[in-house]
Amino acid sequence: MPDPLLTIRPRLQRAIAAVLGPESEDADPVLRRSDRADYQANAAMALAKQVGRNPRQLAEEIVAAADLTDIVASMEVAGPGFINLTLRDDYLSSETDATAADPRLSVPVVTRPETVVVDYSSPNVAREMHVGHLRSTVIGDALVRMFTFLGHRVVRHNHLGDWGTQFGMLIEYLVDEGWERSEDHKIGDLNALYQSANLRFAGDDHFTERARRRVVALQGGDQRTLELWRELVEESERHFEQVYERLGVTLTAADYKPESFYNDMLDNVAEELERAGLARIDDGALCAFPAGFVGRDGAPLPLIVRKRDGGYGYQATDLAAVRYRTREVGGTWLVYAVDARQSQHLTMVFAVAAEAGWLGDGRRAEHVAFGMILGDDNKPFKTRTGDNVKLIDLLDEAVERAAAVVAEKNPELDEATRAEVADAIGVGAIKYADLSNDRVKDYVFDWDRMLSFEGNTAPYLQYAQVRARSILRRVAEERGTGPGPVVLTTAEERTLALHLLSFGDAVHQAAEQLQPHRLATYLFELAQAFTGFFESSPVLRADTDEQRASRLTLTQLTARTLATGLELLGIAAPERM
Ligand code: ARG
Repeated sequence: MPDPLLTIRPRLQRAIAAVLGPESEDADPVLRRSDRADYQANAAMALAKQVGRNPRQLAEEIVAAADLTDIVASMEVAGPGFINLTLRDDYLSSETDATAADPRLSVPVVTRPETVVVDYSSPNVAREMHVGHLRSTVIGDALVRMFTFLGHRVVRHNHLGDWGTQFGMLIEYLVDEGWERSEDHKIGDLNALYQSANLRFAGDDHFTERARRRVVALQGGDQRTLELWRELVEESERHFEQVYERLGVTLTAADYKPESFYNDMLDNVAEELERAGLARIDDGALCAFPAGFVGRDGAPLPLIVRKRDGGYGYQATDLAAVRYRTREVGGTWLVYAVDARQSQHLTMVFAVAAEAGWLGDGRRAEHVAFGMILGDDNKPFKTRTGDNVKLIDLLDEAVERAAAVVAEKNPELDEATRAEVADAIGVGAIKYADLSNDRVKDYVFDWDRMLSFEGNTAPYLQYAQVRARSILRRVAEERGTGPGPVVLTTAEERTLALHLLSFGDAVHQAAEQLQPHRLATYLFELAQAFTGFFESSPVLRADTDEQRASRLTLTQLTARTLATGLELLGIAAPERM
């Protein structure tokens, strides 16, 4: 396992357990890259506090108990109890060689593969995708890519909002307007339609009543009503697929598991919960009251399984989805990339599902919550007229702006390449701006910053790998000495090698903790380490053939690591730009 972190961490863990006893078997050594040494382990302070001991002394004992001589040249306790570790040079260079020879870049697959069901994107039918769906789509897809790379079995579920009372209103409106299938309807029309239908619904009691009856017809399976509904769904799906294609997202039509998919299961879910004594009739509705959830007045909070009118809603559908995903799909890890505002809803669903035995016993669910995208006024990002920003418009603008940047930076590129590069930079910039932020926080949408070639941006990373690849191209043309064994002479080479070996840890941490920004941060630091190396250590004009061969290996490994990392985030890595 060439990533030193992955080797050192369990050994330190064993040392901690040897000192503090088997209860501390799972203690995190808090191992990090460090500027003072190569790595730093910071666990002694917190552990000492827990057991009421002197932290420096505890650190000394952990050092004495650790078996790391084959890897580490020195291990020293500093300050209040930090453990500083410096790797052996021979170890560092041979591990770098091994990583360069490994198609997986030394990233191990997980020891216990899971079936992960990822619920993401999940836009609503008859509404154009807007910026609100960007985060779920981009974060969910990055997680899917990482899980797959790490050897999990991954199932994508696109939980489209295609069912509910609003469809009565929409369909009734379609009928009023004499909408026919033969016409060529566009999703843009659907958006407008949604708004007009809403207006009529709010202002016309007669229409409201008809819309209500239309819901009953839809739920009852009325032929004509279902046909119109399907038309809405199909047109919407065509639109979603177009957006996914533009975004470079791995979702396909096969991943639709819309709300309506669960309709047939809802009666049975209600029955099962009622029979288990987990749901009861309250004020005419069938409700579950998961333990620990109370409202402001202290009364237990209901999760409505079946409404008073006998219908089912969003909450029931999500209960059915948990049961389906564990029982039928075999999911052991259910992951929901959903807006933070739905946190209470999801935790209540998970709590009821746990009480019903659908979760627990090796099956768990996690809400990958995320904050909002803000405009430069720090309010939710909207158009100047106060509307939601359409995703397609946003992508168009990104590519247009990127094209202007490319034309300025590299006027020699031919037109086709320029268009391709503009697409990679523009779309990449939007996705990376989202993924590089800690997802639970809101972030400000800022064109200039995300398209900048400086700083933690997609173009900066893309450009770093373009630089590395251009060196390799030149070597291929010159036919001089190619990549060879790594010898580390300069500080910049050493720093770069250390970063290259941490790729596995970065991917594992990002996936396990469901935090794509950890991988983004890693890639940014790698690009910086490469820049430092590139500017200080001539590759093609190296002093000796041996040095040139070593530097070429470092360059090639950097290019591959950056490209693979970007791919795991769903971001294109162009060959030139
Ligand atoms: N369609 C919902 C929305 O736009 C998101 C669905 C999230 N997934 C779920 N299983 N509830 O807000």
